[in-house]
Amino acid sequence: MGLHEKIEDIELEYRPVAGRIGAEILGVKLGGDLEARTVAAIRKALFKHKVIFFRDQHDLTDAQQEAFGKLLGNLVPHPTVPKIEGTESALNIVSDGTYAANQWHTDVTFVDAYPLASILRAVHLPPKGGDTVWANTAAAYEHLPVPLRELADKLWALHTNAFDYAAARPDASADRVKHHRNVFASTVYETEHPLVRVHPETGERTLLLGNFAQKIIGLNRDDSARLIAIFQDHITRLENTVRWHWALGDVAIWDNRATQHYGIGDFTERRELHRVTIDGDVPVGIDGTSSVTRRKEVKAPDLQHAAE
Ligand code: SIN
Repeated sequence: MGLHEKIEDIELEYRPVAGRIGAEILGVKLGGDLEARTVAAIRKALFKHKVIFFRDQHDLTDAQQEAFGKLLGNLVPHPTVPKIEGTESALNIVSDGTYAANQWHTDVTFVDAYPLASILRAVHLPPKGGDTVWANTAAAYEHLPVPLRELADKLWALHTNAFDYAAARPDASADRVKHHRNVFASTVYETEHPLVRVHPETGERTLLLGNFAQKIIGLNRDDSARLIAIFQDHITRLENTVRWHWALGDVAIWDNRATQHYGIGDFTERRELHRVTIDGDVPVGIDGTSSVTRRKEVKAPDLQHAAE
């Protein structure tokens, strides 16, 4: 038995998963044929709980996942990583344990209009490990001490997909470092975002950082790193988080404008999740100023390493 909330004219049954973020929605079968009022209820639940989970969606194929995604908005492929063949835009997050998305991030913040939501479906799971954790960046802002909130209100950060990946992830394999350089950063983006984004649906103030935020505008590298660490530590305080232990058939949908997430890299066997991403809007800060992309540059492949 779950709790009930009436959204639109739908009685949605759900179970909270943690105190400040996360709810499991009960009794909904996802797909491309959901009624408009069910979709409206799911959208509202998403904006309220920040990440929502659906169990037992065993019949969902890539095509059905995309068809459901289109009910939430326009699908958008990853700007640099190739899509799963035969899909419009789905991303394969697959690893045998040598790679995990185990850095706190909000998806694709190196572009200005980064995705509004992602839909992640468990396709193959290791026998142990590989949970995902989300953090609520609106709760993080709300619970900041006032002097830090006032400081955050004034700051902007540079987000980029081109950074020293090997230094940031000393445990990364040579293949991963090469993949980052030749695929993930094949087009280099640099975008300036306000540290505090006003959520266009809820009006909440959210902290906008994560691993693509490499510098605070106007500060040097060391001061930037220290300040980013202070705000990141507040975002990822356990009180702001929810951890999900995946089962086959699970689907998680997160509000990418109000969360960060972290895929835990504690598995050693095959783990495969398919991600469908919904196009977003350009962030607006509390003074009404919008984010701006300063650089978008297609890089020639690194010939020396491409030959390896
Ligand atoms: C992601 O970053 O979208 C994937 C998270 C995960 O692998 O758990």
